[in-house]
Amino acid sequence: MQISPSILACDFANLESELKTVANADWAHVDVMDAHFVPNLTLGLPIVEALARVSPIPLDCHLMIDDPDRWAPMYAEAGASSVTFHIEAAHDPASLARNLRALGVRAGMALKPGTAFAPYADLLPELDMVLVMTVEPGFGGQSFMADQMPKVREVRQAVARFGGEVWVQVDGGVSAATIEACAEAGADVFVAGSAVFGAESAAAAVDQLRGLAARHSSHG
Ligand code: DX5
Ligand code: ZN
Repeated sequence: MQISPSILACDFANLESELKTVANADWAHVDVMDAHFVPNLTLGLPIVEALARVSPIPLDCHLMIDDPDRWAPMYAEAGASSVTFHIEAAHDPASLARNLRALGVRAGMALKPGTAFAPYADLLPELDMVLVMTVEPGFGGQSFMADQMPKVREVRQAVARFGGEVWVQVDGGVSAATIEACAEAGADVFVAGSAVFGAESAAAAVDQLRGLAARHSSHG
């Protein structure tokens, strides 16, 4: 069970010290938004490069951008350890995932709430992670969409059938109140922004979330 705090909810004037407060987490989740694929605009390559230089934990880049075929490999080169693209924006997802892996990073595929998994199930051998969004991408602090749990279950079952090591990530509205449902449905990587950086102690929130996930996990 891995926790990936989303720095979207942290103090952007103090990124280095904020990262250090979650050094006990497994990943630092970095939300890249381009004001085209999603309405919001956050940060890009120069910031990711700077974060990679100082982060005590590996970077999990979630690219909410158009044309990931062109841009995602550059995030691998900038120092991310995991790069997730949105399937809705990808032109040739199999080649994109292969390019990412060839650069030595984990390749992730994200699905918006309205996007079904089944049409993309045959991509599993090319992937290290499937991200099931539990909010409409674009903003932190939104309400968890419990109606995405059947999709989490479906992805977990497909991974089990395939037999490979593909992680199942959830992102959006994940908190102490909602993480159990995600773990029961088969998620094993949990992104949490406001639930971590909005807590009195970010590190304590990470430990608490990991404990809850482990107790309710439906899989190894
Ligand atoms: C939403 C982002 C999420 C978001 C999570 O578009 O992908 O990573 O920051 O924030 P919370 O946990 O506050 O919903
Ligand atoms: Zn995200």
